[in-house]
Amino acid sequence: MGPRDRDPVGGPKATINAVPVDRLQRPLEDLRISVTDRCNFRCTYCMPLDEYDWIARDEILNYEEIARLARIFAGLGVSKLRLTGGEPLVRQDLDRLAALLAGIEGIEDICLTTNGALLAGRAVALRAAGVNRVTISIDSVNPETFAQMTQRAELQPVLEGIAAARQAGFAPIKLNAVIERGVNEREIPDLVAFARAAGCELRFIEYMDVGNANRWTSEKLVPKTEILAKIASAQAIEPVRRERGSAPSMDYAFTDGGGTVGVIASVTEPFCGACTRARITADGRLVTCLFSTRGHNLKSLLRAGASDGEIRSFVVAVWNARDDRYSEQRLAAIASPQGYRPGAVKKIEMISLGG
Ligand code: GTP
Ligand code: 5AD
Ligand code: SF4
Ligand code: SF4
Repeated sequence: MGPRDRDPVGGPKATINAVPVDRLQRPLEDLRISVTDRCNFRCTYCMPLDEYDWIARDEILNYEEIARLARIFAGLGVSKLRLTGGEPLVRQDLDRLAALLAGIEGIEDICLTTNGALLAGRAVALRAAGVNRVTISIDSVNPETFAQMTQRAELQPVLEGIAAARQAGFAPIKLNAVIERGVNEREIPDLVAFARAAGCELRFIEYMDVGNANRWTSEKLVPKTEILAKIASAQAIEPVRRERGSAPSMDYAFTDGGGTVGVIASVTEPFCGACTRARITADGRLVTCLFSTRGHNLKSLLRAGASDGEIRSFVVAVWNARDDRYSEQRLAAIASPQGYRPGAVKKIEMISLGG
């Protein structure tokens, strides 16, 4: 608990200095904004389906609506924004949104999560507009495996996107790799070698049962312990602290001084206790957990003419009522005699939330 989470006499409180906390005393700190649910890839672990119930064009928030929401969240203490999708770069003129967001008082960090395929032509404009960090997804550096996992994409444009991000001056550049059993776990050392040579911070992500489209089963999960062993078989590592208490990634340093590598172990070592992340879908729903079954409709408030104060009160009420800890509950269910049924409820798809 940080200083701003305490009242002047020292005890924890529901809302202090306007920073709302949820039922598990977690403050609202990060906002992840999905700007579109469309994507030029069809990753097997995220959205393998060709057809999906896409959000209608007029339901998608325009950039002014997004910036207004971001300003309201900034007024509640949020300083970190992440632009995501689907693939955020399939939306036109994303740099215009970035510039609007960069002008909001209190916003210190604007990050972009992208699959990288369209980044080469856009990196300079995005950085100039105020995006200060990028995270690029790359699950394999083998062209065949890459094509197999993304179903309709090629590796080369993504490599060019990473190079362009470096040239544009983004630092650090983070790379995300989801590991799927039987598909790319043998390529962990190759990904490590690639990231070290490129000077990027690689994070391996345990395959999660977000949404239902991926038909996740626990057999496809490669746990953190195994990922670490595969990294260590190529390069010696030692643990370092989490970058921030609420960061999903557990970081490890290469003992030869060649940078760090992380593992995001949402399934085997959940981090719900420190989860300060809110998400907004492209159609303006406030989602309090990656595994939520529904969102809270901010768009209808925006479009019905609600005042900033009314929207702010709605957000505070949603956050105060939040008690999500899905990954912790899943771990308990996996260990229980009944076991865990990943398809039991209809969850929002990752392509609508953007991770
Ligand atoms: P920075 O610290 O700003 O670099 O970002 P981050 O560490 O939050 O990483 P990023 O936003 O790139 O998240 C990486 C991946 O971790 C996501 O794509 C998700 O797969 C997973 N992840 C992030 N946040 C959560 C979360 O709240 N819950 C779960 N279960 N997984 C998450
Ligand atoms: N499990 C883990 N990570 C996932 N991502 C998408 N689907 C999943 C999943 N089922 C990650 C992507 C990307 C980010 C947006 O979310 O790899 O890095
Ligand atoms: Fe793949 Fe990201 Fe597109 Fe999902 S949103 S299909 S993870 S590129
Ligand atoms: Fe946060 Fe939900 Fe992920 Fe837990 S499962 S860390 S509550 S988003």
